[in-house]
Amino acid sequence: MSQATNQSWGGRFSEPTDAFVARFTASVTFDQRLARQDIQGSIAHATMLARVGVLTDDERDTIITGLTEIQGEIERGEFNWSIPLEDVHMNIEARLTDKIGITGKKLHTGRSRNDQVATDIRLFMRDEIDVIEAELVRLREGMIELADREADTIMPGFTHLQTAQPVTFGHHLLAWQEMLTRDHERLLDCRKRVNVMPLGAAALAGTTYPIDRHVTAELLGFDRPAENSLDAVSDRDFAIEFTSFASILLMHLSRMSEELVLWTSAQFDFIDLPDRFCTGSSIMPQKKNPDVPELVRGKTGRVYGHLMALLTLMKSQPLAYNKDNQEDKEPLFDAVDTVRDCLKAFADMVPAIEPKKDSMYEAARRGFSTATDLADYLVRKGVAFRDAHEIVGQSVAYGLKTKKDLSEMTLEELQQFSATIEQDVFEVLTLEGSVAARNHIGGTAPEQVRAAASRAREALAALKGDA
Ligand code: ARG
Repeated sequence: MSQATNQSWGGRFSEPTDAFVARFTASVTFDQRLARQDIQGSIAHATMLARVGVLTDDERDTIITGLTEIQGEIERGEFNWSIPLEDVHMNIEARLTDKIGITGKKLHTGRSRNDQVATDIRLFMRDEIDVIEAELVRLREGMIELADREADTIMPGFTHLQTAQPVTFGHHLLAWQEMLTRDHERLLDCRKRVNVMPLGAAALAGTTYPIDRHVTAELLGFDRPAENSLDAVSDRDFAIEFTSFASILLMHLSRMSEELVLWTSAQFDFIDLPDRFCTGSSIMPQKKNPDVPELVRGKTGRVYGHLMALLTLMKSQPLAYNKDNQEDKEPLFDAVDTVRDCLKAFADMVPAIEPKKDSMYEAARRGFSTATDLADYLVRKGVAFRDAHEIVGQSVAYGLKTKKDLSEMTLEELQQFSATIEQDVFEVLTLEGSVAARNHIGGTAPEQVRAAASRAREALAALKGDA
């Protein structure tokens, strides 16, 4: 057999693989990232084979010792990855046979690379989901704490990016936190479907050996063996589900990023981000740029791209395994890395946000943000809402002309527009009065924000790690 022909399947071939084709079909340059999970899966497989009498205990022990040594070689960077050996699975198996001889060739009994790779990816995803979850929890905890601290801080709330009504900064942060709660739930839900074991499906139909899939599932910490062998080796819907989670999460982070970018601008001037999260300009000495949120906003696009790539990869594939599926890894790996890094950036940065309370307060005062409160005041005094709306509209027009906020007008000035207005109007025209009045579950009143933060803390504690 030629050197260039793969030793794992070269038997029926009469000429070596074309050198370009070997490179084109190989995945080892990227799937070597699955080495740890590949070895973990092989150790469980060998253990199960010995349990059911397909391997002897000695053979099992020899295989496990060999694989453990290979793991060490890989970790120390001593492993020689070979492109002609195509992928991570055959590289490791070939090395095992180099080391332990004929017994190494028995490892693949009752198994195929098709169920092997599907198992490796699921083990990998499960590990990564747990790391990602820990970062998400850290971010949520930091956000809830900041919200609680800023329960009394008043800022303008916006619709159409125009000043709408005053809200508390804590309330705004808890809105972000709600988005992340749903993302957290989606992640844990995805994990349930990831944690199902393909191993034992073999190439596509199962195997003639008396395997015990419950044993391997338990050894590998899977909830159960996959129900159908054809489905087990072919579908990558769990990867699509993960990138959907990732896309929605990044969409949320991009919205938060956009607000952080706006708020750090001189025009808004609502917050300061510590210097360690920003960079300068090589030409404009005055610049301090919010690079971290800008980059998170930008990285959202590549994660959406990976979702589209995986959906398109899977589309119209006939059962069962097709080589197309080798293309699942790079998008998935990059989605995992991007999500983890973006979450880390946010988890580090959010607790360090420094609100500029005076500036937020002034902005809320400038935008006639208590206009709705004046209308509600008139309604409470018996004016119909549409008429109240008109009266307040005229007051605002007057304020724009005289450059006065509603709270800065005298009683006489306000009474030009409605005789119903009395001295007690000034209680509702203050920003503090306005937010305190929205005192119901889900409202912006400081009291409600504190209660919501404490509920969020409890809900997070109950959800965390609840896979
Ligand atoms: N490298 C392959 C993949 O990533 C492993 C499975 C290959 N199976 C096969 N029959 N060619 O999907």
